[in-house]
Amino acid sequence: MPANVICGLQWGDEGKGKVTDLLSADVSLVVRYQGGDNAGHTVVIGDETFKLHLVPSGALHPHIQPIIGPGVVVNPGTLLEEIAKLEARGVVMDKLRVSAAAHVIMPYHVALDGAREAAAGAGMIGTTKRGIGPAYGDRAWRVGIRMGDLLDADLLRDRLKAALAEKNVLLERAYGLPAFEFEPLFSDALSWGQRLAPLITDTTRIVQDALRRDELVLLEGAQGTLLDLDHGTYPYVTSSNPVAGGACTGGGVGPLQISQVIGVLKAYSTRVGAGPLPTELFDEVGAHLVEAGHEFGTTTGRRRRCGWLDFLPLRHAVEVNSVSNIVLNKLDILSGLPEVKVCVGYRVDGKLIEEWPSSAAVLERAEPVYDTYEGWMQDLRPCRSIDELPTAARRYVAAIESRAGVPITHISVGPERTQTIAVNGEPLIAATGGER
Ligand code: GDP
Ligand code: IMO
Ligand code: MG
Repeated sequence: MPANVICGLQWGDEGKGKVTDLLSADVSLVVRYQGGDNAGHTVVIGDETFKLHLVPSGALHPHIQPIIGPGVVVNPGTLLEEIAKLEARGVVMDKLRVSAAAHVIMPYHVALDGAREAAAGAGMIGTTKRGIGPAYGDRAWRVGIRMGDLLDADLLRDRLKAALAEKNVLLERAYGLPAFEFEPLFSDALSWGQRLAPLITDTTRIVQDALRRDELVLLEGAQGTLLDLDHGTYPYVTSSNPVAGGACTGGGVGPLQISQVIGVLKAYSTRVGAGPLPTELFDEVGAHLVEAGHEFGTTTGRRRRCGWLDFLPLRHAVEVNSVSNIVLNKLDILSGLPEVKVCVGYRVDGKLIEEWPSSAAVLERAEPVYDTYEGWMQDLRPCRSIDELPTAARRYVAAIESRAGVPITHISVGPERTQTIAVNGEPLIAATGGER
């Protein structure tokens, strides 16, 4: 079965956008399976840079049908803006489809996200304030509004009235914020529905029909494993499942329809927002990673926290995603450092831990234990084959591969599409191994 999943193995921003764009050359459908406009996926083609939030990163290829799956939460206003911006740059968006089952991020979700963060003080999560958590919360509480509901005025009126009655109490009483008036919100929601109507459909049917025709389908994750609601550093996580399993529920495929899981790994660690990052660096090496790696959020512009690569969550991520092969990104950013470290264990309360503990409280107390590798000075950006990499860089890659226990099939040495090394000289899609 030719479905392939791309997922992040760290705290997001691993470079999933670049990898999805690369793989898209040979597939027909790219499906976003979770998250919302909290995501920021960058694709660089020549001297053009595209930053995608809700629209799948494969959309820049004219042959691709981009799909926003049922597991995504959609802010209709930002989706319409994103479509308009892409169209203004010549990207044809006619084939984009949005699942009728995807939940709508309403303005009260955005207000509640911001209000709770502000009220939490030191306990804040550092969310993107896009209303992601409240929208997924309503989905689980079965009081959400789905994209399909925007097309049925009577249903929408009933659901919105019921939702607003509760949300307004929360906004006014718990957070001292103004209530939302029903009529303007209802009218906005109807107008989103009218404008997006041609896109809203049963996307699971489209995906399943493509799989039946043996077409290659790519399922694109947002965020990363360590931000996963169940497998990440709870509560410092997002409210959905970026892990490969999320591609089934959120994309509309069954587990046995997936032939390959491509894990995207950055050559060092980054994290945006609060929560434990055991290998975080506060010295000049950390500053180098921020500057050289341009580690500022694609969506919020926030400075990303940076640190050395951590082997403990890597193993965890390979396991919970059943990763088949890894694309290692941003190896070029480590050039110029005299030595490169990787975390191989934590000291917690005087004890050595070598397995990922998952508890945020334990991770907050973890002191990293490092292995040190020789660094390299060479600029890696011109390298196009593994033999062109300096020996020290190859040693570093080999150490990662050995710890991960799965092959690193591709290495990225720059943001641009072509700045990629196929380790065995095979095109990226060959690594997916799906039936063609
Ligand atoms: P995503 O959220 O996983 O899609 O990642 P982002 O797009 O938020 O962040 C990754 C950033 O690194 C983007 O600015 C990419 O253009 C850039 N990038 C991706 N791969 C490489 C690489 O191998 N080298 C360098 N220097 N930049 C890269
Ligand atoms: P991509 O897809 C990095 C982080 C936020 C915050 C936590 C919860 O570009 O990798 P949320 O708004 O989702 O409720 O915030 O998750 N976060 C991301 N960090 N990359 C992302 O997406 C992220 N999406 C959310 O910073 O810590
Ligand atoms: Mg990003």
